[in-house]
Amino acid sequence: MLETNNILQNISSEESMVDKYYHIETYGCQMNVYDSELVSGQLLKMGYKETQDLELADIILLNTCSIREKAEETVHNRLDSLHYLKKNNPNLLIGVLGCMAQNLKNDLLDSKPYVDIILGPDSYRKISQIILNRRPLANHLVDTKLSKYEVYDDMFPSRKSGINAWISIMRGCDKFCTFCIVPFTRGRERSRPIKNIINEAKNAISEGFVEITLLGQNVNSFSTQEGDFTTLLNDLAKIDGLKRIRYTSPHPQDITDDLLRKMSEYENICNYIHLPLQSGSTKILNRMNRTYSKEQFLNLVDKIRQYMPNCSISTDIIVGFPGETDDDFIETLDVVSKVSFDFSYMFKYSSRPGTKASEYTDQISEAIKQKRLEKLISLQKKITLNNNQKKIGSIQHVLIEKESKKSTDFWSGRTDGNIWTIIKKTNECVKDIVPVRITDAKGVTLFGENINN
Ligand code: SAH
Ligand code: SF4
Ligand code: F3S
Repeated sequence: MLETNNILQNISSEESMVDKYYHIETYGCQMNVYDSELVSGQLLKMGYKETQDLELADIILLNTCSIREKAEETVHNRLDSLHYLKKNNPNLLIGVLGCMAQNLKNDLLDSKPYVDIILGPDSYRKISQIILNRRPLANHLVDTKLSKYEVYDDMFPSRKSGINAWISIMRGCDKFCTFCIVPFTRGRERSRPIKNIINEAKNAISEGFVEITLLGQNVNSFSTQEGDFTTLLNDLAKIDGLKRIRYTSPHPQDITDDLLRKMSEYENICNYIHLPLQSGSTKILNRMNRTYSKEQFLNLVDKIRQYMPNCSISTDIIVGFPGETDDDFIETLDVVSKVSFDFSYMFKYSSRPGTKASEYTDQISEAIKQKRLEKLISLQKKITLNNNQKKIGSIQHVLIEKESKKSTDFWSGRTDGNIWTIIKKTNECVKDIVPVRITDAKGVTLFGENINN
């Protein structure tokens, strides 16, 4: 095994290459999407071109996720299916990036010796040096040192053109929820300077983007000497041409009155909050180390609705956490009904080796987890449909994003509250925000017509 720091020298600009191709696949959360854009930015700068054709690729990178066992299995299977490509192309480099690289480190090589590069989330700065220094049949390269400081502030993401630009504003997590691998794969919390985030947002607008989504594992614990998350939102909201600002994922603990006031003040800060609940039982929340009780969560939701009566709220919920009884689960159903979330991401608890909860002795059987998940999904489906049906007749502001997949006669866009809406094409264009009268609701989707026509 080689450590990058010891073997690599600086690269000079003349060394850039032509007619070399890379292929990158992204698994996991939006932070990985952003990180893949950072890595792509570096490879493009070296002269590589992106390809979707695996046979053509000189480098294949998988940017991976460890959040649940299934996420890791998917990548294990994908890697196994890529192995054959090396037979025809022995110089092909296969790299594993991201949380799984960080989580499994050298262990990955035991089962997959054909993997050449393993880079954790704080090591992407080294990717161009690694590729340039790589010789055929050289040793594997593993770099998974986590950094207290790395925020990739001077690296530029290569974004696919579109509506929304992801902007990472902080990295890492210090919350240590007992079920979660992220504090181990992403390391300690650190934030980027406000000035540089503003510049990145302005650049994105000059490239044609009209919406930004601020990203961080704990986006609202953003903290710098120049100000906190609310200061940042305030500064961003004033940028000309920035039609919408979204952010994900906040922690309920760090949602302040100041933040809610700011969100209600600016039209371009979307009235939408993804507010992960995880469980409705205070006993389970304590065991999860979530730092709030059922009542505190419900009070927070009330407060959000006082500031923004029409604010959409979505959530994440885990069922079958160790020690979760039927009564605890009923408390979760109770919170889901009371809050009436617009949307939920619902998961069966997955034990992650190394986390505190994986050592709890009262693990729940797969059959019970499955039953609870199905029950929760069916409740949430009804609530989502009901919430959406209540919008029939209302006017929603929809940002036109793309042609509908089902028909070229229709646009597809999102409301301020993040609900996909289909509208018949008239004279509006992509990137316009138009007032839409909602005429129907099916599943998670709204249907409507532009009232300006
Ligand atoms: N930072 C975000 C969550 C990031 S992970 C937050 O604090 O909300 C996204 C979601 O995955 C979590 O909200 C949680 O619901 C789920 N998750 C995390 N670890 C999990 C595990 N071990 N098993 C099942 N779901 C998990
Ligand atoms: Fe994981 Fe909790 Fe951190 Fe979210 S806040 S990333 S769930 S440890
Ligand atoms: Fe997965 Fe890592 Fe994101 S574990 S959810 S890719 S922070």
